[in-house]
Amino acid sequence: ASFDMGGHDTYMHKEMSEQAEAVDRVLRGRIDDRFSTVHLGGLNLDAREARGVRRIKILGCGTSYHAGMIGAGLIEELARIPADAEPASEFRYRNPVVDPDTLYIAVSQSGETYDVLAAVQELKRKGARVLGVVNVVGSAIAREADGGTYVHAGPEVCVVSTKCFTNTVVAFALLALHLGRIRDLSVADGKRIIEGLRKLPGQIEEILAMEPEIEKLAQEYAGAQSMMFIGRVRGYPVALEASLKLKEISYIHAEAYPASELKHGPLALIEPALPTVAIVPNDDLLEKNRAALEEIKARSGRILAVAHQHQEKADHTIVVPKNEDELDPILMGIPLQLFAYHTALAMGRDIDKPRNLAKSVTVE
Ligand code: AGP
Repeated sequence: ASFDMGGHDTYMHKEMSEQAEAVDRVLRGRIDDRFSTVHLGGLNLDAREARGVRRIKILGCGTSYHAGMIGAGLIEELARIPADAEPASEFRYRNPVVDPDTLYIAVSQSGETYDVLAAVQELKRKGARVLGVVNVVGSAIAREADGGTYVHAGPEVCVVSTKCFTNTVVAFALLALHLGRIRDLSVADGKRIIEGLRKLPGQIEEILAMEPEIEKLAQEYAGAQSMMFIGRVRGYPVALEASLKLKEISYIHAEAYPASELKHGPLALIEPALPTVAIVPNDDLLEKNRAALEEIKARSGRILAVAHQHQEKADHTIVVPKNEDELDPILMGIPLQLFAYHTALAMGRDIDKPRNLAKSVTVE
């Protein structure tokens, strides 16, 4: 790649640091304050068609799949349309039932991931309507889809996706708001979400400014053999993505579990040598999440919390700015990108070229 590094040591660092402006770009020109909604030009889905959608299935791989999981949550919360995400690679091999009232959404940074493209082609062959949430303009998946929205993250060179993840989730928030305002989301809630979206770039800057503190924490955890990541509902895909980031660039083994599943097995792993990173937003699940921290502490597990306020049971808390509950996952992943970065750096890893990986997987 030949993009300017702009004074950063790695593309990953450059791309993480671009996230406030990238989010600003995906929001620009799309917010309609008069109707408390957003306009997404290329969707090719009019209001009547949007009302007829009974289910949404989101398909992607890796980080894009995780962004799609958060997207599905946003669509269910804001538009009250049943939605879920699935790895595109699995979907296309299980002879899925393709339902005419389901809207399919393919998610991809590159727009060239073969498993996603092949899933889109299979869906189209069966007469489904497929939208794309894609970063690279004019890419294969963007061309193949019936419509969609660009993520506008700008070029992402590092194998490890960071700014595109954040922007993809914001793009899903816009789509969810758009669908919600066509369906049952009130003007007041539309306005509330718009205000939350507008706060994101400034809050991202606040998180990026915490880098020195996060770097120190990363150095403390860098020796770990393995790490556990937990979260619930909105926090679970954040945990999955954070564990993927850590694996990809530090090669530390990491697992992600819903905090609620700990007692069904993984609690057996907890001991001082296995630190846990816990996503603990100030939402309706705060007390449940705190109970999980207590369970871990009772087994002498070390805990790093990402939360909206200091967590007593945690050994360390990264306190992030609060947004609307629905939008919190967008922000909570960002400190953990920095955490993965500095952990890998402390271990002397080649950040921009992790072993065994390619930026886009264009073969099966
Ligand atoms: C992200 O850090 C990964 N390297 C990888 O999981 C990636 O997200 C996946 O291969 C999908 O790529 P895409 O978004 O370009 O389709």
